[in-house]
Amino acid sequence: MDAHLWMITFLAVLVIFFLPYQPFASEEMIGPFPPDNLRCEYLENPTGIDVEKPRFSWMLNHSERGQKQTAYQLIVSTDPLVEIADVWDSNKVVSDRSLLVAFEGKPLESDQTYYWKVRYWDNQDNPSLYSQVASFDTGLFQAEDWEGDWIGGKNKLRKGFSIDGHVKRGRVHVCGLGYYELRLNGQKVGNNVLDPGYTTYEKRILYSSYDVTQMLKDGDNALGVMLGKGWSSVRLLMLQLNIELEEGEKITVFSDRSWRQTDGPIVQDSIYGGEVYDARLETRGWDSPGFDDSAWTTVETGIVPKGTLSAQMIPPIQVMDTIVPINMTNPQDGIYIFDMGQNFSGWVELRVSGPQGHKVHLRHAELLYENGTLNQENLRSARAEDVYILKGDGEEIYSPRFTYHGFRYVELKGFPDVPTMETIRGKVVHTAVKQIGSFSCSKTILNRLQRLIIWSLKTNLHSIPTDCNQRDERMGWLGDAHLTAEQAMMNFDMGAFYTKFIQDIRDVQDKDGTLTDTVPHIWGQRPADPAWGTAYPLLCWYMYRYYGDESLLTAQYEGVKDYVEFLRTKAKGDLLDFSHYGDWVAIEKTPGDFVSSFYYYYDVIALMKMAEALGYDSEIKTYTSLADKIKTAFHKKYFDAESRSYANGTQTANILPLFLDIVPEEDIGSVFGNLRTDILYKNNTHLTTGIIGTKYLMEVLTKFHSSDLAYELATQTSYPSWGYMIANGATTLWELWQHKTGPSMNSHNHPMFGSVGAWLYKALAGITQPEGSSGFRNILIRPQMVRDLRYVAGTIHTPRGIVTSSWTKSGQHITLDVTIPVNSQAEIHLPKFGWEGVILKESGKQIYDGQKFLTGEQGIQMVEETKNEIIVKIGSGRYRLQLIEE
Ligand code: BGC
Repeated sequence: MDAHLWMITFLAVLVIFFLPYQPFASEEMIGPFPPDNLRCEYLENPTGIDVEKPRFSWMLNHSERGQKQTAYQLIVSTDPLVEIADVWDSNKVVSDRSLLVAFEGKPLESDQTYYWKVRYWDNQDNPSLYSQVASFDTGLFQAEDWEGDWIGGKNKLRKGFSIDGHVKRGRVHVCGLGYYELRLNGQKVGNNVLDPGYTTYEKRILYSSYDVTQMLKDGDNALGVMLGKGWSSVRLLMLQLNIELEEGEKITVFSDRSWRQTDGPIVQDSIYGGEVYDARLETRGWDSPGFDDSAWTTVETGIVPKGTLSAQMIPPIQVMDTIVPINMTNPQDGIYIFDMGQNFSGWVELRVSGPQGHKVHLRHAELLYENGTLNQENLRSARAEDVYILKGDGEEIYSPRFTYHGFRYVELKGFPDVPTMETIRGKVVHTAVKQIGSFSCSKTILNRLQRLIIWSLKTNLHSIPTDCNQRDERMGWLGDAHLTAEQAMMNFDMGAFYTKFIQDIRDVQDKDGTLTDTVPHIWGQRPADPAWGTAYPLLCWYMYRYYGDESLLTAQYEGVKDYVEFLRTKAKGDLLDFSHYGDWVAIEKTPGDFVSSFYYYYDVIALMKMAEALGYDSEIKTYTSLADKIKTAFHKKYFDAESRSYANGTQTANILPLFLDIVPEEDIGSVFGNLRTDILYKNNTHLTTGIIGTKYLMEVLTKFHSSDLAYELATQTSYPSWGYMIANGATTLWELWQHKTGPSMNSHNHPMFGSVGAWLYKALAGITQPEGSSGFRNILIRPQMVRDLRYVAGTIHTPRGIVTSSWTKSGQHITLDVTIPVNSQAEIHLPKFGWEGVILKESGKQIYDGQKFLTGEQGIQMVEETKNEIIVKIGSGRYRLQLIEE
C-alpha cells in the first residue's frame, strides 16, 4: 500500500473510533471557523489561470451542528496580505453559495499575482474570521501577450540573457511540443513531467506557468529546453519569461531566432517505444550561463501550430511515488528480471557504473513467461524499451524523460556487473490528482478490489483518462472515460481534470455535432459509437452532480445539444441502429443497436436535466417529449412480452431499461426476476456483462433491493469476476474477464471495469445524493448492510467538505458514524432487518423510543419509522447513531 493510501485508511479508522466522541474542534473555539481549502478553478493557489472570471470555492467548519452559510464576503487584492480590496470586494453577499463563486471585480490583467480571502456568516448571522490568504496567478490572456515565436527543430535549445538589477518577480510561460523539460541556470523548473497535457493540437495547446523568482539572478542567466516528441509530429517551443526588477524595470525573454539548438543525448524518444539516451552526448553546463554555444545552430522558425495557446488548468503529470522492487531473478545468462510487485505507469530509475559506451537495456512488461522471462506480447507494437549508454564516470543515475511505460516487471540486460535490489527503483507517474476518497470494510477481497480500482484509475490519468497505460494505445476512449468517471469523482479530486477533458471533447466536435470514439481523435471513428459519445453529456452531468458546476453546464449546453440533435438526425423511428462496440468485452453479447438506443435516451435525459438545472423552460419541454418518444419506441421494439425480457434477454439487455426506468411498472417484477434468475441460476451467481452492463448492474441490483446479490457478485472469486482477477495475481484491473497473456487485446491495466467502485461508496458505505441535489448539498446516507459484512468505513472529501459514513453491525445493534459538512444536510436510512421494536440513540442519548422522536439533540431534525427503515434527518456535524433492537 502506498503511503497516501495508508494515511487515508489510518484517518478513516481515526474517524470511526475517536472523532464522534470529540466536540467538533477545540473546546474554546465556538462559532464559525475561518473557511479553509480555498480553491480557484478547482486548483490550490494555481499559477496560470486564463479565464476572465475565475471561480472560487471554499469549505466551511463550525463548532455547532446544523450550520449553514447565510452570507459570504470575498476580497481579491494585489496586496499579499489582502489588506486592501483593490481588485474586488464582493461585500456581504447574502447567499449560501460556497462553490464556484465567479469573480466580479475589475478586469484581471495578464501575468499578475492576485491574492484572496473569504469569510462567512452562519445561521445566526455570526461572521467567521477571514480565511488564510490564497493566491492565483493569471496566464497570458491574449494572443498578443505572447511576444515570441514558435521555434524548434532539434531536441536541445538554449538562450543566455542577463539581468541588471534585483529580481522582484519572475514568471515563465512555456509550451514545448510534444513534451519539454525546462531548465534555468542549471536546474529543472518545476516538477511537471510529460508536460504539456495532451489536447487536439490543431485546436488547443496548453502552456504551463511557473514562478521562477528564486531561480533568477542579477547578472548572467541561461534557459535550456529539451524537447521530446510525445504525441506531436514536430518539436516546437513557445516560451516567455517575464521579469520584474525591484528597481521597477521589466525584462522579457522569449523564444525567437536568437536561440541556439543542437542534438542532445536523447537519441530517440517515443511514447510507445521508449527512449535511447546516450550519456556521452551530454554537455556539461549547457543550461547554465557562460556556456559556449557557438557550435550550436540557429533554431528554425516558421512552423506555427494551429491551436490556441491556453493555460493548463489541471494538476500536472508528476512523479507521484517510488516503488522498491520485491524480487530479482536471473532466468537467463545476463538477463535480470525485477518484480515491482505492482502494475503502474511510469519508468525506472537506474543506477549504474561501468565503462564508457556500455549499453544497458531496460524492457518493461506486465507479464512473465513460465520460465521467468519477460512477456511483452500483449503490448502489441509498443517496444517499451529504454536504452542507456554510459558516459563512464562513476555512478550514473538515469530515468527517461519523454516516454512512459505500463508495467510490473523490468528486464535488465547488458548491466556491466551483477545488479542488486538497489539497482532500480520504480517511479510512479501520472496526473497529480489528490486522492479524496477512502473505502474499507470487513471483507478483505473488497479492500483488495478497491486497491485495484485506485491503482488502475490513477495510473491511467495522463492529462486525459486513458484506456490503458502499456500497449500501443493509451488513448482517451470515451466509453472508458464515462464508465469510470463516477468512481473517479469519489476517489480523486477530478474537478479540474474533467473540466479540461470535457473541453477536449468539445474540441473534436464537428459543426454537425458529431464526436469521435477517442479524444483527442487517433483511433476509432467519427461519429462515435453512441455508447462512447455519451461521455460528453454524461461527464457534464456528473460535473454538476458531484461538483455543483452550473457554469460548466451553461458553457457546454449548446455543444451537448448539438450532439443530441446529431443523434436525432440519425434516429429511425426514434431509435438508433448504428454501433461500433456496444457492450464491449461482454461474455454474452447484447445487440449494439439496443445499447446505442439506450444511450440516445440517456443523452436526451441528461440534456433535459441540464436544461432543468439551468432553468431553460422551453428546452425542458422539447427534450422531455423527445425522451418520452424514445422510451416508448424502445420498449415497443425491444420488449418481448412472452419472455418478459428485453432484446436477446442477456443480463445487460435487462439491466439497461431497469436502470433508466424504461420498464413499465407492471413489468418490473418479471424483468428484474429474469435478471436475477440469469445471474443466480443460469450463471451460477456470475455476471456476463461487458463494460456497459457492468456499470449499471450493481446499481440496478441495489435499486431493486438485491444488494445481497450484488455483494455476492462483488466478492465472487471464480470466473468471471473481479475476484478471479485478484485470485490470478492482478494488481490492477484487466481489460477482459478472461485471463489471457498472449498477443491479443488483453491489457492488465484497464480501469473500465472499475465502475464498480462507485457502488462500493453508493451502496455499501451508502453515500449518495438524492435526486435534485448537486455538489453534495443534500446527502442521502443509506448503507446496505449485506450478508456477512460487519463494518464499512467510507469517506469522501466532497467539494463542500468531508462526508463520512462508517458503520458496524453486530447482533441486534447497528452503529453508524456520520459526518456532514457545514452547508449540507442529510437524510439517513438505517435498515431494521425485520426487528420487532427499535430504539435509536445519538452519542449515547436516546432520540427515538420506538414510538416517537425525542427532540432536543442539536442538529437532528426528525426521526421517522417506516416498515423497513428508520429515517433520520440531520444538519451538518458529526453524529454517532446506534440502532438497537428492543
Ligand atoms: C480500448 C478500449 C476501448 C475499445 C473500443 C480498445 O482497444 O482499449 O478500452 O474502449 O478499444 O472498443
